[in-house]
Amino acid sequence: MKIEALSVFPHCYDSIMNESIMRRAQDKGILDFKAHDLRDWTHDKHRTTDDEPYGGGQGLVMKCDPIFEATDELFAQAEQKPYVIFLSPTGQRFDEAMTLELAEKDHLFFICGHYEGIDERAYTLADKVVSIGDYVLTSGELASMVVIDAVVRRLDGVLGDEGSAVDESFYDGLLEYPQYTRPANFRGMEVPEVLLSGHHAKIEQWRHLQSLERTYRLRPDLLVDAPLSKDDKAFIDSLRAAAEEQR
Ligand code: ADE
Repeated sequence: MKIEALSVFPHCYDSIMNESIMRRAQDKGILDFKAHDLRDWTHDKHRTTDDEPYGGGQGLVMKCDPIFEATDELFAQAEQKPYVIFLSPTGQRFDEAMTLELAEKDHLFFICGHYEGIDERAYTLADKVVSIGDYVLTSGELASMVVIDAVVRRLDGVLGDEGSAVDESFYDGLLEYPQYTRPANFRGMEVPEVLLSGHHAKIEQWRHLQSLERTYRLRPDLLVDAPLSKDDKAFIDSLRAAAEEQR
């Protein structure tokens, strides 16, 4: 997959994209990442990318002309027009379903806003406007890195054997089960017996029930869409009944 970002702070990406799984994805040739400096498409001495809002008001607005010039040039070099994503608190809420949808694309192009926002006309370039949550960040770069990280770890071959996405939260619509590593007893806190048993089927079953229980307790909203078996539903019903009894 090719991923590009257009930003006034392209170096923001250096640390995240050069460590751990993001670095490995590039080293394996699965990810081709490049951050472009929006200021390269300005024409004044100060390389201005923002200006006062028409109609007055606080703060500065990102100009649309450097964004159009940058995308005109960069898209002309691409084999196919990339899928263009703007990051904004006004966008569609990012979640696992969107992660999977974006992981299917060949080429993502992120446009990152700053300050009070971006000139509305720039959004005509957008295939999707994405928000990572109901709060305001200073930079779209941070939000784009969240999206990039979540998408790239879903690409085939990125996680390898030691960290499959299959076991993670949301993969099957549920939260992940609890994990433990050595020591088996730490300050009196014991690792659940079943995990030391070596009995794989029992461990699998215990983990699945833990996932269900955790999701029921912490994120019951997820159970509405999670693919639950008859046994899963019966287990959830038993949790509900026990909770009712405690009231
Ligand atoms: N830019 C600023 N805040 C944001 C958010 N919550 N999501 C995406 N982009 C943003």
